[in-house]
Amino acid sequence: MNEAQRRAWLALGLGPHWERRERLAEDVGDSEQADVDLAAYAVDPTPPAVDRIPEELPHAASEQRRAAIATCGWSELREMVAACQACGLWKSRSNTVFGVGDERADWFVLGEAPGAEEDRRGEPFVGRAGQLLDAMLAAVGKSRRSGVFIANVLKCRPPGNRDPSPDEAARCEPFLQRQIELVSPRLILVVGRVAAQALLDTEASLTSLRGRVHAYHAASRRIPVVVTYHPAYLLRKPEDKAKAWVDLQLAMRSSVPDPA
Ligand code: URA
Repeated sequence: MNEAQRRAWLALGLGPHWERRERLAEDVGDSEQADVDLAAYAVDPTPPAVDRIPEELPHAASEQRRAAIATCGWSELREMVAACQACGLWKSRSNTVFGVGDERADWFVLGEAPGAEEDRRGEPFVGRAGQLLDAMLAAVGKSRRSGVFIANVLKCRPPGNRDPSPDEAARCEPFLQRQIELVSPRLILVVGRVAAQALLDTEASLTSLRGRVHAYHAASRRIPVVVTYHPAYLLRKPEDKAKAWVDLQLAMRSSVPDPA
């Protein structure tokens, strides 16, 4: 770790005092679900019911839409996302949240969905969780201006910060796939269970997904995927930041090397 990364890492609170678990337990209250259920950080304990989409998008139309998105360049893709009404979330959004960062980044960082602040500003990870994400990225020498592109599974905010529904995730997926193809990153870092399950098409727990290198296939490339905790979870359970650092180190080791 170089000096800048060391400073960023210390700013994250990752000093030796991290190990003082008694104090941390007091600070965060119940810590027993440490490895775990990201639903715990949902702001609204009784999220509203998922919007029901009355009709299935006819298969042919959905294939046509997917094919159109699959050939978009950046500006066309941005326009399509801004105009999207493929699921019911457009009715309650203030802004779509396309993504931000370096369009040829080494790392693609994937979160779940915009929250209230992101919906207001049209940019992912701008609240407290975003500040922690920025600090985590700084610790590995990256920032949203250089080296990473940050996006979410959903481009619109689910009301009440509920989890994305499978239908919403499926309708947004062609956008995400195209973003990944265009960035063509050396690594995808997924933050949180919901995003990991959506990207990897699995119901496996966050615990079982961490610590391994998965793969995502885009434009005939096999891109390594590393899963870590969502920064909002780490704000609630700071004692797990050390495990997130282990994940980031795995991510650094797993990035596809520069072509010779
Ligand atoms: N949480 C996410 O997963 N994404 C954001 O953009 C903000 C919070």
